[in-house]
Amino acid sequence: MPQQTLHLHATDTGLDRAAQLLKDGALVALPTETVYGLGADARNGTAVAAIYTAKGRPSFNPLIVHLAAPDDAKKYVVWNASAQALARAFWPGPLTLVLPLFSDHGLSSLVTAGLPTVALRVPAHPTAHRLLTAFGGPVAAPSANPSGQISPTTAGHVLEGLSGRIAAVLDDGPCTVGVESTIIGFDGSTPVLLREGGITCEQITDLLGQAPAAPQGSNITAPGQLASHYAPRGNVRLNAQAPHEGEHMLGFGAVDGVLNLSPDGDLAEAAANLFEYFHRLDALGGAIAVAPIPQMGLGRAINDRLARAAAPRG
Ligand code: TXA
Ligand code: MG
Repeated sequence: MPQQTLHLHATDTGLDRAAQLLKDGALVALPTETVYGLGADARNGTAVAAIYTAKGRPSFNPLIVHLAAPDDAKKYVVWNASAQALARAFWPGPLTLVLPLFSDHGLSSLVTAGLPTVALRVPAHPTAHRLLTAFGGPVAAPSANPSGQISPTTAGHVLEGLSGRIAAVLDDGPCTVGVESTIIGFDGSTPVLLREGGITCEQITDLLGQAPAAPQGSNITAPGQLASHYAPRGNVRLNAQAPHEGEHMLGFGAVDGVLNLSPDGDLAEAAANLFEYFHRLDALGGAIAVAPIPQMGLGRAINDRLARAAAPRG
C-alpha cells in the first residue's frame, strides 16, 4: 500500500522521529559512510519482512545488521582473534564481519535468511551512530534501493527508488565512501574476503600479515552476490578509451567523458562519485562506456561493482 514517505533531517527532532519509527516497526532509510541503508528493527520479523517487500528483494539474500558500538557484536556472535583485530582496526567503519550466531541471539531469522551466521557492521557515520544509539538496538539494513538497481548515495536517490514504499528517509547529504562495506567471513578462523568494499584488501593484508582467502574453495559463500547487480538501465561497456555511437562516456583520470569519476585519478574520489554518476548517466538514457580503473586499493571495489553493472541481465 502506498504511504507518505517523510523526508527527515539530521536534527534532534528528525533523529527522535526516525528512532520512534524504527521502534514502531517501520522502515527508515539512513545515511552511512558507504551508501544509504534501508533500516528496520532486526529483532522484529514483520519489520524485516517489509524490507524485502519494499526492495522487491529475493528472500534468500541475508541482510547486514548495524550496531552502535563494537562491543554490541559480542551479544550475537562467537568472536575470534582475527575478528577482534579487524574490529579494533576498522570499526566504526566500512567493514562487515560474518560470524557464527549464538543460539539465543534474538534476531529475526529473516535477517540471516536462515543461515547459522550473521553479517555485522558498526558504521562510522555520525548520524547513523546517533540513530542507532537513540533506537538502542540492532538495525538490519541493506542498501536503500529497489533490488538490482544502483545503490543510493544521497537521500534523493533513496526517494527516487523507494518513495511511497518506506516510512521515512533521514537525510544527511551525500555518502563519503560511496561503495558498500568490505565483507569478511571466516572459514574456521581463516578470514575470507566475501565482497570488496570501502576497506581495501591491502589494508586488511597489512593488518593481518597475510591476504584474506578468496571465497572459491572455501565452504562459505556470500549469498546474494548476484552476477548482475547495481545495474543502470542501459548497457554498460568497460575498459573503454572512447565512447561508441550512442554511448555516454564515464571517464577516469586522463580518459575523459561526459562525467569523470576523478580527473586526478584519485580512487577514493572515484568511489564516492561512482553511484551518483551512474544515476546521472542513466537519466540521460542510452548506453554507458566506462574508462579503465586500476585494480588496486578502492579500485578493486569499483571494478567489482562495474563488472556487476556490465554483466548480462538475468
Ligand atoms: O555498506 C554496506 O554494507 C551497506 C550499508 C547500508 O551498510 N549495506 C549493504 O547491504 O550493502 P546489502 O544488503 O546490499 O548487502 C549485504 C550482503 C549480501 O549480499 C550478502 O552477500 C552478504 O551481505 N551477507 C549478509 N549476511 C551474510 C551471511 N550470513 N553470510 C554471507 N554473506 C552475508
Ligand atoms: Mg545492495
